Amino acid sequence: MPTPAPQLNRRDFTKTTLLAGAAVAAGAATALGEAPRRIRTGVIGCGSVSGSYLPVLSKCPFVEVVSLCDIRPERARKRAEEFKVAHHYPHIDAMLAGEPFDFLITLTDMQEHEHLNRQGLEAGKHVWSEKPIANTLAAGQELLRLAQQKQKRLWGAPITVQSPQFAFMARTLAQGALGRVAAAHADYGHEGPNWSSFFYEKGGGSMPDLGVYNLTSLTGLLGPAKSVTAMLSIVTPERAITDKGQIKVTEEDNAMLLLDHGQGVISHVQSGFNYFNPHGHDGRGEQRHTITIVGSGGFLGLVGYDWAPQGVDLATHAQPKLERHAPDAEGYIWQQGAALAAECLVTGKELLVTPEQALHVLEIITAARASQATGQRIALASTFKWPLLS
Ligand SMILES: NC(=O)c1ccc[n+]([C@@H]2O[C@H](COP(=O)([O-])OP(=O)(O)OC[C@H]3O[C@@H](n4cnc5c(N)ncnc54)[C@H](O)[C@@H]3O)[C@@H](O)[C@H]2O)c1
Repeated sequence: MPTPAPQLNRRDFTKTTLLAGAAVAAGAATALGEAPRRIRTGVIGCGSVSGSYLPVLSKCPFVEVVSLCDIRPERARKRAEEFKVAHHYPHIDAMLAGEPFDFLITLTDMQEHEHLNRQGLEAGKHVWSEKPIANTLAAGQELLRLAQQKQKRLWGAPITVQSPQFAFMARTLAQGALGRVAAAHADYGHEGPNWSSFFYEKGGGSMPDLGVYNLTSLTGLLGPAKSVTAMLSIVTPERAITDKGQIKVTEEDNAMLLLDHGQGVISHVQSGFNYFNPHGHDGRGEQRHTITIVGSGGFLGLVGYDWAPQGVDLATHAQPKLERHAPDAEGYIWQQGAALAAECLVTGKELLVTPEQALHVLEIITAARASQATGQRIALASTFKWPLLS
């Protein structure tokens, strides 16, 4: 681990970094006596989501983005120009052999993460990966072993467990305010991306792209799952993709999972690429409860998506009328995961996001596929440290 530097608390960090920008961030650091160390960072994958990550990274006081990489070199060049990054490369080998850096952020097609993350760890880099960290649980566990052996850190998106709304729900459950917890439901979908085919090909699908958010939130709130039963289907067998034309959809674009969290608690997660959703990637438009949890003594409803939550409605025996809580994002945005990881690398401040939970969610997704294929309920072997309380 790097030498710990003075800490900014999460609220100060997110405010300074994300709301007020680099100048104020530098000011806050100076107020603490010294500027934080910036971790030298390389970003691989310069497509759509890099446009969400790079604005945050370029303002983060703990990050210096030194190189970018994409197998479509024009994309890396354009992003380098846009975000004033000195070096860009057309291949990971060239990136690893080029300008030195310590922290790799993987934002490529889902199917590419596993081998790129492995190469990054083998080269002695800390790694933040978009989801999934790997294509199978076994491969993901191998990556985690490699990280531990190299004394490097490995994390994966999403970061729904970092939001103040998640914290409110986790605290409310831990206090027993819902009585005997019985059931939960979560759903997330839209009409499906049209810019890349990998979302619909082997290793893609609505579960690793969309269901993963709800699975992270619900296992984070209710605990690791013991088993899963699922039904998956393909509703739209062909899609039109920009630059590619018609493609065949081979992975689920419609998924229903039932999870057994133990002690009688059952949850249901649904995700799909055929969901009418006028809000698209603008989470602020969604006002309904996308996660609900009910127990013998109360009800919790998360307002909006778990990646862009807007509050939590709570009703209990003592207060049966729904009341809105945690309406403030406190600087939380879904795009900040790699920046929070960099903060951890520099200051030692730990995240609630862990690779163990990301691998548990990956096991749920692969088990759901086995359940669909066999018609069986599938037992899960992996787990993670729980509860997640901040
Ligand atoms: N687009 C979003 O808003 C969004 C939001 C959250 C998470 N994500 C996740 O981010 C990841 C990327 O999604 P996207 O929408 O940005 O896809 P994209 O197709 O827009 O971009 C992926 C980029 O990776 C590059 N790439 C592929 N293989 C590579 C390799 N081996 N080496 C270097 N570059 C390579 C491609 O050329 C492409 O430019 C996925 O895991 C996705 O689930 C995307």
